[in-house]
Amino acid sequence: MSKPGRADLVIVANRLPVDHVTLPDGTAGWRRSPGGLVSALEPVMRANEGAWIGWPGSGDDTEPEPFVEDGLQLVPMYLSEEEVREFYEGFSNGTLWPLYHDLVAKPEFHREWWDCYVRVNRRFAERAAQIANEGATVWVQDYQLQLVPQMLRELRPDLRIGFYLHIPFPPPELFSQLPWRRQLLEGLLGADLIGFQLPGGAANFVRLVRQRLGHKTHRDLVYLPDGRSVKAAAFPISIDAAGFIELARQESVMERAAAIREALGNPRKIFLGIDRLDYTKGIYARLRAFAELIAEGRLDVEDAVFVQVATPSRERVEQYRILRDDIDRLVGRINGDLGRIGRPAISYLHSSYPREEMAALYRAADIMVVTPYRDGMNLVAKEYVACRYDDQGALVLSEFAGAAHELRQAYMVNPYDINGMKSMLMEAFDADPKETAKRMRAMRKQVVDNDVTAWADSFLNEMAQVRPEHGKTVRPVRGS
Ligand code: F6P
Repeated sequence: MSKPGRADLVIVANRLPVDHVTLPDGTAGWRRSPGGLVSALEPVMRANEGAWIGWPGSGDDTEPEPFVEDGLQLVPMYLSEEEVREFYEGFSNGTLWPLYHDLVAKPEFHREWWDCYVRVNRRFAERAAQIANEGATVWVQDYQLQLVPQMLRELRPDLRIGFYLHIPFPPPELFSQLPWRRQLLEGLLGADLIGFQLPGGAANFVRLVRQRLGHKTHRDLVYLPDGRSVKAAAFPISIDAAGFIELARQESVMERAAAIREALGNPRKIFLGIDRLDYTKGIYARLRAFAELIAEGRLDVEDAVFVQVATPSRERVEQYRILRDDIDRLVGRINGDLGRIGRPAISYLHSSYPREEMAALYRAADIMVVTPYRDGMNLVAKEYVACRYDDQGALVLSEFAGAAHELRQAYMVNPYDINGMKSMLMEAFDADPKETAKRMRAMRKQVVDNDVTAWADSFLNEMAQVRPEHGKTVRPVRGS
């Protein structure tokens, strides 16, 4: 492990791309955390000797020195127990998360949570100011750090600053509930470029800035009184499509997919849901829809099974605890009422799996069911499409997932409409293989042509255009 220096590209995210773990010999170590963002940014980080600032997810209050792991410069930020409670579980996931997801749950507004959010954002900004070289590019990620752009600009006006929001940006009517709406908008405006998943999010932001702050705007540009302009535009995020296709083609993954089908009793069709256990994902409604189809005799447990993987998430937040209990009860009731010996209607797994197992599940599943009430993008939908290089399988997709704007050939559903969802599950179940192949081919082309490297390059190329007289430019991976 060597010590990193200062960097020309700095990623600032709530999470580091590694987790702090206790190794089998009892010592502490680091484990790479799999995730789209890391694979997206890794090549550009290596090409620019970038640094990544973030929280390793656990540990004590003592902040270790930055270190280099597997060629990546990592700068850990520790959160105290109080900060985890008030900044991460509180303001980030108890206030902003539900507010930005259409109020699927009720957001809580607490002044101590806000104060802690400000403090933690300031610490991240100060750390970024120390690490960034003169004229460097700093790319801040997501809703946990919306004040960092402005705080950082005050400390280091020489930097180019970008911000990307991975979750939806809500309409003004919802955002305006926030007691600290003005501070958040001003925080974001510290960036030169603000990226959103969809054009609608960018438009919501520009409208709010005009309404609440009174700044002049024209299309995707905001003009600030100090002469600076800020661009707000859509950059839909994607996956490492080539990586998933390669994985899905591996012999071991194919064998595992066959073993999964076998273990499920080789039913005619397997439905699959893979989600973080989050109330935005619509897991409850989709399981109910499937169960009703069985209860009504439109599907039979000998023919069809629903595999639901729910990855544990934010387990100390009350809404998430309630959801877990609700799903546990629902699955128990459905299997108790409708299952037969060796044939549960739902095979439920509350666990997280490595990429290989996910790819095997995608290969084993005939119908992937992705039904969020609101989702910034939903990368699971794109991963499924990438893994179906055989053009088999059908994707049932909520029209409220960002991915629906690109994966237009999916079987679209409104997750609030249980009867509509039931009809669409049946349509996907009964679909002519020629029809599903045509749809899958078109969706795969979309995912392959617009992968995560294209996403990172397009954002960084756009960053290079802002204030061209000023600062160094970051080298893209493929160029555009
Ligand atoms: O979708 C937003 C997001 O923050 C992702 O970036 C992340 O993978 C996911 O939610 C899980 O978040 P957490 O860091 O709270 O586990």
